[in-house]
Amino acid sequence: MNPVDIIVKKRDGGELSATEISYFIEGFVKGRIPDYQAAAWAMTVYFQGMTDAETTDLTLAMAASGDQLDLHDSLPPNTIIVDKHSSGGVGDKTTLAVGAIVAACGLPVGKMSGRGLSFTGGTIDKLESIQGWSPDLSEAQFRQQLRTVGLVIAGQTAHLAPADKALYALRDVTGTVPSLPLIASSIMSKKLAAGADAIVLDVKCGHGAFMETLDEARALSKLMVAIGQRAGRRVTALITQMEQPLGRAVGHALEVKEAIATLQGQGPTDFQHLVETVAQEMLLLGQRVQTTEQAREQIHQAPVIQPVLSPRRGVVQRIDAREIGLTGVALGGGRQQKTDPIDYRVGIVLAAKVGDTVAPGEMLCTIHAANETSAEMASQRILAAYTLGDQPVAALPIIYDRITVS
Ligand code: URA
Repeated sequence: MNPVDIIVKKRDGGELSATEISYFIEGFVKGRIPDYQAAAWAMTVYFQGMTDAETTDLTLAMAASGDQLDLHDSLPPNTIIVDKHSSGGVGDKTTLAVGAIVAACGLPVGKMSGRGLSFTGGTIDKLESIQGWSPDLSEAQFRQQLRTVGLVIAGQTAHLAPADKALYALRDVTGTVPSLPLIASSIMSKKLAAGADAIVLDVKCGHGAFMETLDEARALSKLMVAIGQRAGRRVTALITQMEQPLGRAVGHALEVKEAIATLQGQGPTDFQHLVETVAQEMLLLGQRVQTTEQAREQIHQAPVIQPVLSPRRGVVQRIDAREIGLTGVALGGGRQQKTDPIDYRVGIVLAAKVGDTVAPGEMLCTIHAANETSAEMASQRILAAYTLGDQPVAALPIIYDRITVS
């Protein structure tokens, strides 16, 4: 076989066989095929594209170019290893919160993450904002932590899919990054080599992502799902909005803080929703649960989450704190009788507070309820608990006084 013939075949629109692709990738990673031929070949793929079969063969060849982990022997029998991957976005700290939730639900998460690329952040850079944290774990340490803690996030070793690493470096400087088969095979080769049985893909779409349009994001998602299927792995792709930064925090330590706040139930609504959705998908693929409903229960999300919208423009003059508390109790979050069970999922998250100006239809709060009927009951009570007026009102002070020994 000859690398030039392979380049020419693709240049002229031919379909490469699995043997030709693996010959080329192996030759490249072992240094028999020089960078200039690999770069020329990437350009032919950029212009001619690849069939799903070729893209799968490329993915498998790149996955096989280095270590291929099998973590099953570090885990209880029949554990399905579920990974997640984000195609990259701004303010994307999803792995930090999702990993902890899924592991807490009993599904081990052993994940190799990457660094920031261009305007998108990387999980490893974010975690390095924690003093003393290191992404460098030996395989033995990785396995030990997975077994004992159930959650590992580590840097990708140089031995994992080295063909992708070398090819990506060439693509980066030859204008061949934005090619669907090259992106899909790059992402999936690393996931397959890391030993995932199932993968949840978070494909970001919008101006803050590499896929700017829904059509592009759908095409990439379909391709990666097809590669997964051909490679015998279960893959679900979520196409998620990246027009504006995810959550509120953008910046390494700030994002870690926001991920922790989200785990404590204090996260921004959009980020929390994404985290819960990705976690549900992972629990479903990992067969920890059979239905989305069961997944929600496991991660303590109420079945009904609905906003209460302002009926008019105005300034929030007063919020009847006691009535809000009683509404929380009525939702099931408190006891009316000593023996009543508490529903830990339910409650109210206030969006507008005293002094805030709201437009008609703007959110006053979000209700988390066990069912539609109790959400509706809470909605009526909360609307009555908010007093809206036209006069400006100062925000309420939080500290009234300081008393010390006089
Ligand atoms: N992320 C990857 O891992 N590879 C690509 O080619 C693009 C984004």
